[in-house]
Amino acid sequence: MLRILCLALCGLLTGTRADPGALLRLGMDIMNQVQNAMDESHILEKMAAEAGKKQPGMKPIKGITNLKVKDVRLPVITLNFVPGVGIFQCVSTGMTITGKSFMGGNMEIIVVLNITATNRLLQDEETGLPMFKSEGCEVILVSVKTNLPSNMLPKVVNKFLDSTLHKVLPGLMCPAIDAVLVYVNRKWANLNDPMPVGKMGTVKYVLTSTPVTTANYIQVDFNPVVQQQKGNAIKLADSGDTPEFPEGYAEGSSQLLLSDAFLTAELTLLQKSFDVSVRDTMIGELPPQTTGTLAGFIPKVAEAYPKSKPLVTQIRINKPPKLTMNTGKSLLHLHGTVEMSAVRRRGKPPVSLFVLEVHFSLKVQYSVRENRLQMATSLDRLQSLSRKSSSIGHFNEKDLTVFITDYLQEAYVPVVNDELQVGLPLPDFLAMNYNLAQLDIAE
Ligand SMILES: *[C@@H]1O[C@H](CO)[C@@H](O)[C@H](O)[C@H]1NC(C)=O
Repeated sequence: MLRILCLALCGLLTGTRADPGALLRLGMDIMNQVQNAMDESHILEKMAAEAGKKQPGMKPIKGITNLKVKDVRLPVITLNFVPGVGIFQCVSTGMTITGKSFMGGNMEIIVVLNITATNRLLQDEETGLPMFKSEGCEVILVSVKTNLPSNMLPKVVNKFLDSTLHKVLPGLMCPAIDAVLVYVNRKWANLNDPMPVGKMGTVKYVLTSTPVTTANYIQVDFNPVVQQQKGNAIKLADSGDTPEFPEGYAEGSSQLLLSDAFLTAELTLLQKSFDVSVRDTMIGELPPQTTGTLAGFIPKVAEAYPKSKPLVTQIRINKPPKLTMNTGKSLLHLHGTVEMSAVRRRGKPPVSLFVLEVHFSLKVQYSVRENRLQMATSLDRLQSLSRKSSSIGHFNEKDLTVFITDYLQEAYVPVVNDELQVGLPLPDFLAMNYNLAQLDIAE
């Protein structure tokens, strides 16, 4: 069974395939980025400014000199998914074309038009990033009004429309569509950057295949690369299942699925940082960490240390952490050793009292901060406890269950939570903001 964490985003993105890593479903909400790109880039205004200049290959408008384009209307962009292709884009706008007419007077033409194109979604062969490429740009004239004297109408205007405006406008406006796509495509660029997970390694979201467009969303399938700082990439365990998006999200919304296998691989990067050595005698609500306290559970400690000594506790995690998910509940399993030693006088190393093998589970709560997945844990339970070695002779380790459980909760869990604060990076693309995402744990 594949377990996943689903972030329902207030944006658009999607993915599908049998790889166990991460899957993104982009709804129409994310595609607002295209609208924003058009607004932010002021592309139509730039095109308009260019229009007056003489450009190679641009046909002059017959009978008009000193041509200028002004008052470009704020474009309204309509987008629709085209299954298997990408996005159909319609930019409705208007503008005033001014110039000197062949009659010598000032002329104004107010044009309302639609620019339409299909933005095909591809995977850039060089970078592996998603990429939109426009095809079949057309300019549709919605209305044309002029200030020419009415006795010249309609012949001149009609001729003008047919022979010139229709030919000139695509060359003038279609580059705007391409320029907007360049702008949007650039917003995918960060996706390829390895993002740090603390100092232990990096995560990179690599596209598995060309994103797939359906009638309602674009799906992007990731094969994330979890790379150790010094060492190999961590292979994701394959559960054999295809991730599926849970039902019931708002239409047009975007979702990101992260599998337990992927999160487990990321946590493996942090394994070393979960090793600690604690020398404090007073920790939270715990009784003093001394051989005297320990003797209350194992009388043999008092025989070996009649005079109470401070304790040093070392916890070593000796297997990669493992994350499990069940509907609504996620656990982090840690396997390792707890070694308690008595502190001796200055200059002498502590003496190991015993080493215990432990397996315990932590309950995980997820949140998102600064586009990173944050995890906060609390002790679920001590799953198993066994004695590996002892310098004080045989004792029943079960007598230490409460002592160790309290110790893990009070002294160790805060250390784990501190380390987890580095956060797990989420895919960075299209200026996505995950902070308002709703999080669900699903099977
Ligand atoms: C222009 O685009 C708008 C918005 O998509 C649409 O409602 C209108 O029908 C289009 N007009 C023409 C003539 O295509």
